[in-house]
Amino acid sequence: MRMVSTLKENQPRITTEPLQLGGYHIPAGTVITVDIYCLMHNRKVWGDDADAFVPARHEPQKLNQMPNNVWSWLPFSGGPRKCVGMGLAMAEMRTILAMLLRKYEFDLPEGSIHADKIQLCHGEHPLLIPLDMPIKFTKRY
Ligand code: HEM
Repeated sequence: MRMVSTLKENQPRITTEPLQLGGYHIPAGTVITVDIYCLMHNRKVWGDDADAFVPARHEPQKLNQMPNNVWSWLPFSGGPRKCVGMGLAMAEMRTILAMLLRKYEFDLPEGSIHADKIQLCHGEHPLLIPLDMPIKFTKRY
């Protein structure tokens, strides 16, 4: 099956010929995308606390024990068109977060719409992003 991308470099793709996928018939010219958010919040894969923020669930030993682990954690997609910037992005995030945590405490401002649960919206990218989220930084020293 050959598919083309609707965007310059990302999902979604358009099928160029008809195909059978997971018991469904998909005609040529159909826009298809992987719902990365739902995949990474799937209770069948991650358990009943799938919506909870539990960074330890991403430890390599835990991921390796999961069935289908290669396709369970997909923020950068997978396969031959997966994000080429993944290594750089992971290194940047670790570095920047460590620098910020050393110097600042950060919190949601009073009355934030995210106080009980992060409110999400669709960004330009197929991923969901937090909706309008001001953050209060307080210098540690
Ligand atoms: C947290 C940061 C990032 C996330 C979550 C992310 C996520 C993604 C996703 C989901 C795709 C789509 C793959 C597909 O269509 O199957 C993608 C593609 C891509 N990303 Fe990233 N990305 C990030 C950072 C970066 C950085 C820092 C760079 C470059 C320095 C980069 C360069 C690319 C490129 C060039 C593609 C297209 C790859 C291809 O089509 O062959 N990304 N990214």
